[in-house]
Amino acid sequence: MDLKDRVVVVTGAGRGIGAAMCRTFAKAGAKLIVVSDLDETAARNVAEQIGSQAIFNRCDVASEDDVRQLVLRAETQGGQIDVFCSNAGITVKGGLESTNAEWQRMWDVNVMSRLYAARAVIPKMLARGEGYLVQTASAAGLLTEIGSASYSVTKHADLAMAEWLSVSYGRSGVKVSCVCPLGVETDMLDDSDPIHRYLHLHSITAEDAAEAVLAGIRDEKFLILPHPEVLDFFRHKTDDYDRWIRGFQRLQQKLTRQVKSDSENADSAM
Ligand SMILES: NC(=O)c1ccc[n+]([C@@H]2O[C@H](COP(=O)([O-])OP(=O)(O)OC[C@H]3O[C@@H](n4cnc5c(N)ncnc54)[C@H](O)[C@@H]3O)[C@@H](O)[C@H]2O)c1
Repeated sequence: MDLKDRVVVVTGAGRGIGAAMCRTFAKAGAKLIVVSDLDETAARNVAEQIGSQAIFNRCDVASEDDVRQLVLRAETQGGQIDVFCSNAGITVKGGLESTNAEWQRMWDVNVMSRLYAARAVIPKMLARGEGYLVQTASAAGLLTEIGSASYSVTKHADLAMAEWLSVSYGRSGVKVSCVCPLGVETDMLDDSDPIHRYLHLHSITAEDAAEAVLAGIRDEKFLILPHPEVLDFFRHKTDDYDRWIRGFQRLQQKLTRQVKSDSENADSAM
């Protein structure tokens, strides 16, 4: 799909990849960009930088009511929604010790938000025979995220939702893309964490990620990989699952040792 003269909504667009997507879509000639974020001030700043093509909206994507209101506002301002980008996402470090409340929040923000968006926009897209959903999942959805069980699981679910939507509605004109980046230089990458420092070895800028998203939408590709090497990693996994697991076990051990030695060094410096 060409974004020229299109109405696009982006969630989690107050900073990071979402903000870069809004700027990139504006340059590509979108008619209206709805810059939406939980942080209203951040969304307003991005919309103001873009200018008359953009409006801002506060929306907590974990709330179905908020998502419905966002869709209503976009339709009122733009007439219809051509592209809805479910980009907002969060992470929490930790494995079995993560609390149920943390798991629930991860599930609501990273997964239920995609369902709420699809429920709110798909009926009208089907009626027109055209529309586009973009979900920012992660390479963690194809592989795994060392150090965060809830991120790994919810990003697999994010990808599963995108696959299901594409299979169910693709033949009726609703396109779906799932973006699966590795490290992107945003606030989400926390350099105090060896796992995130490792991700930085492959990191790209939010602008590079947004350019890849634009190209993927133009080509109507289901899987958008801003880091092309992720396809090789994914192929390794499907070629020989056990070998891939063994490789990630080694990496997990190495990075976990690094986490331990970092925290011991921090303790001894106190
Ligand atoms: N940065 C990376 O390395 C990386 C890699 C792979 C995938 N991703 C994914 O990309 C997406 C964007 O991440 P980012 O790196 O730009 O992160 P970021 O933290 O820079 O930006 C995320 C934005 O989402 C907003 N947000 C958080 N919770 C929200 C909610 N409940 N409702 C609405 N907005 C909310 C935040 O206010 C923030 O502005 C996420 O889905 C993330 O999982 C990021």
